Amino acid sequence: MSNSSAHALTIVYQEQPLNAGTPLPILRRSFVTPQTLFFARNHGSIPTIDPATYRLHVTGMVRSPLELSLEELQSRFPSRIIMATLQCTGSRRNELMALHTIPNEIPWGAEPISNANWRGVALRDVLQAAGIAHEARYVSFSGLDEVWEEGKAVGFGSSIALEKAQVPEVLLAFEMNGEPLTPMHGFPVRVIIPGYIGARSVKWLGTITLQDEPSHNYFQARAYKLFPPNVTQTPTDTSQGRMLETLPLNAVICIPQDRQMLEAGPVRILGYAFTGEGSPIQRVEVSADKGTTWTIATITERNDPWAWCFWETTLDLPPGPYQLFARAWDATGHTQPADARQLWNFKGYANNAWHRIRLHLA
Ligand code: MTE
Repeated sequence: MSNSSAHALTIVYQEQPLNAGTPLPILRRSFVTPQTLFFARNHGSIPTIDPATYRLHVTGMVRSPLELSLEELQSRFPSRIIMATLQCTGSRRNELMALHTIPNEIPWGAEPISNANWRGVALRDVLQAAGIAHEARYVSFSGLDEVWEEGKAVGFGSSIALEKAQVPEVLLAFEMNGEPLTPMHGFPVRVIIPGYIGARSVKWLGTITLQDEPSHNYFQARAYKLFPPNVTQTPTDTSQGRMLETLPLNAVICIPQDRQMLEAGPVRILGYAFTGEGSPIQRVEVSADKGTTWTIATITERNDPWAWCFWETTLDLPPGPYQLFARAWDATGHTQPADARQLWNFKGYANNAWHRIRLHLA
């Protein structure tokens, strides 16, 4: 097992397994995130995989199971490039933790999000080559990393509905920003499911299984499920939780940073906004008076439908303490909830309340 590949991540929550990200002002510099700055979210060790002996297995409810080498995967199916933002659903958990304790989870700020150009083959092409049996309803993915939970070796896995598996943007990716994936990001092959929580995009992909029910893997069946605020710890029966899929609409202020001291006058405010729900971001707004009035920001960069967008605005602010709020709207008129209290859940997932930072202008 190798430790990790070279990275420049400076917000390190955990070394082993490596869970780390890039400070928001640096992340906000590049619309396409360099691999070295791309956040890392690992539940176990980073496996060392020999590309010469690597095999991807396609099995379960298929007419002819496949065993593909990396070379076969790359040469037998047409490849395509999709720009997609990957976000961990634990993003902004620190704000939920400030409301009520969330034990044993990483206190992520808004940095476990990054954007890349992924090259890979469409999952649907590989499924078609295996022949989808008519009783198949879900596609499940297993990684080759060793992961332990609750004293058991559980591995890492996820599943998606067969319908989602057949859209062309779901990739079995082997390149990120024109370079082979690094070991940290899933070398030699990972799944990319644009719009879905990062946990579904299994790294170090070993097996794809077609089945008639969702994956029983710990990370699909028990974790990454959403429960209402009144449930305060993992229930014995987790079947009532909603398996998280698409990422909700979110806007985040990257510059300035929370609690920064600045000079009064024109203050440049820059951030990102993202939604995994399919309707493009229509506008981003910023408020300096706790939500009474809002200024529409300019969207400076976008690449719909699967990438984040970058936005900025300038507010002229006299001296004093401030709270700046940001929120986004999508093209169907949906916006974000004002308050994180209604979103609190014991795992700290899916926080998309208005983003707030405190500033002091002198
Ligand atoms: N795949 C495997 N095999 N093992 C993992 O721990 N982490 C998941 C997902 N795929 C994980 C995995 C989670 S929770 C996220 S958010 C993304 O990978 C993070 O991908 P990255 O580390 O390339 O940013």
